[in-house]
Amino acid sequence: MRHPSPLFELKQVSCRFNQVAALSQISLRIYPGERIALVGPSGAGKSTLLSLLNGTLAPSQGQVWVMGQNLAQARATSRRRVQRQIGMVYQQHHLIRNLAVIHNVNAGHLGYWPLWKAAWSLVWPLQVDQAAAALAQVGIADKLYARTDRLSGGQQQRVALARVLVQNPAVILADEPIASVDPERSRDIMDLLRHLSDTTGKTLVISLHEVDFARSHCDRVIGLREGKLRFDCPVSAASDSLFRDLYALSGEPQAVELR
Ligand SMILES: Nc1ncnc2c1ncn2[C@@H]1O[C@H](COP(=O)(O)OP(=O)(O)OP(=O)(O)O)[C@@H](O)[C@H]1O
Ligand SMILES: [Mg+2]
Repeated sequence: MRHPSPLFELKQVSCRFNQVAALSQISLRIYPGERIALVGPSGAGKSTLLSLLNGTLAPSQGQVWVMGQNLAQARATSRRRVQRQIGMVYQQHHLIRNLAVIHNVNAGHLGYWPLWKAAWSLVWPLQVDQAAAALAQVGIADKLYARTDRLSGGQQQRVALARVLVQNPAVILADEPIASVDPERSRDIMDLLRHLSDTTGKTLVISLHEVDFARSHCDRVIGLREGKLRFDCPVSAASDSLFRDLYALSGEPQAVELR
């Protein structure tokens, strides 16, 4: 049964960058606890959609409602309160490379800490136990004081996940979180995200090119192409041909794994 109030609601949303229609007339709702895969060929509008959901981008038309707030009209304080509940994971990790891991993990507090506390923490790390626990949860407990740029790509992605754990948001939006890690590490990261959602009820929206992971780790799949919503259905209803059409119809050939 579906939760009565959606976490996110897009009402007839369009997003233009100059002459490019990145998204056209998108309407959808996302409910608490859902695990959604966002799929579609390059340029389909996946990252744009995630940026609308986290409020870093405003729509050119239509409305984006997040946790009951119309983000474009919300006061800055309300918008920040909503944004604290949204954790982001990116392909490029967005970590500060020359700092110790603990500082990057503690960045998960930044939405809550005043500036003095954040600055002080760079000299003398605060909340060491919480950072250590988050790193243990993502399987790299021993890396607390390692320099971030000495870690492998997969380990850095785990640091990014630990930062999100410390932030403890209601929702995790992940933009191609496994695009820059090898297949084994990809499975680990996807398992971790899935585990987080299973154990804490966090809502996941993950943009992916790997159809098999969309199937195995998510419950709902949203297909975008050229800024338009092509399908939005439970994974059980998403057939091979649906995915094939989504990718095949685009101008560029895409490497899609289909069984
Ligand atoms: N900041 C921007 N300025 C201008 N055009 C943009 C900007 N961001 C995105 N676009 C355009 O909007 C469209 C959608 O881009 P988006 O990054 O959302 O696609 P995507 O589905 O995430 O693609 P990929 O799989 O390659 O990451 C593309 O045509 C892109 O060139
Ligand atoms: Mg993208």
